[in-house]
Amino acid sequence: MLKIVGAVLCMVMLLGVRPALADSVDGQTTNQRGYGSKGYVWNGMTPEQVQVMQLSGDAARGKQTYRHCQGCHKADGVGRTDGIYPRLTGQHAVVLIKQITDTRAGIRRNPKMQPFANEHAVSLQDIADIATYLAQAQSSVANGKGDPTLVQAGAGLYDKLACADCHGAQGQGDERKIYPVVAAQHNAYLLNEMMHIQAGERGNAHPDMVKSIKGLPVTDLKALASYLSNLPDYRAR
Ligand code: HEC
Ligand code: HEC
Repeated sequence: MLKIVGAVLCMVMLLGVRPALADSVDGQTTNQRGYGSKGYVWNGMTPEQVQVMQLSGDAARGKQTYRHCQGCHKADGVGRTDGIYPRLTGQHAVVLIKQITDTRAGIRRNPKMQPFANEHAVSLQDIADIATYLAQAQSSVANGKGDPTLVQAGAGLYDKLACADCHGAQGQGDERKIYPVVAAQHNAYLLNEMMHIQAGERGNAHPDMVKSIKGLPVTDLKALASYLSNLPDYRAR
């Protein structure tokens, strides 16, 4: 992971991306710094995100520390098949780190999780450890899957709308670019996130993704969620 992290950091430096969020107050829990706010830059990298990405995570330690998260995300990170809590296993460590640090910074709003993931609950090293553990861990329970009769329509839309440019042909995301795995996630969670992203309500949304799902009716979003939730875990192949 260190190599990848190094590459990402280099990329960030080469591109001259500055912490785009420096003009706001630390610890703020609104998403005034999030998508739709003035000067929003996707993955502007909070100082915490930069720091965690420089640490090397320990999976065995992460497995222990993960107990802070288990109340909601359940044993071995399976989440809930009804999608209230996402599955976390098999997600790229860098994506997990981004979500946790964005949540701590209030860029991705998640008031439910905030007290369990804030600086009083878990340290930066804990975040690195948990992310390393979850990226490798296997969930013992299958994910919640959408209506199988919508899968074909969903596959067509995924192709037509070029979702694979970012999330990959197998829904495997892109670790180097910090794009999430979307295969084998719970159907209802996928649908919910797409609706949030479409409505501009997910604070850390990628503007190009918002464009790509702009105006899609919910029936199409359902088909996409069904397709992705019925894909196998990309690590299984
Ligand atoms: C009180 C319940 C709760 C606890 C405890 C909790 N979370 Fe969450 N978490 C959530 C909810 C709800 C979401 C989905 C939010 C949404 O829909 O945007 C979430 C989302 C996430 C995501 C984003 C997943 C994705 O696919 O984008 C990550 C990563 C995450 N949690 C990690 C953790 C970690 C690590 C811990 C422990 C330190 C933790 N959570 C503790 C409720 C919780
Ligand atoms: C320009 C690249 C890009 C394109 C194109 C794109 N996405 Fe995304 N998508 C992202 C990024 C980046 C995120 C996560 C944002 C963050 O948390 O930093 C995301 C998040 C998601 C999520 C939520 C995942 C989670 O774990 O919370 C889903 C579902 C999703 N995308 C589906 C799609 C679908 C379906 C399409 C095609 C209609 C699409 N995306 C097009 C980049 C893209």
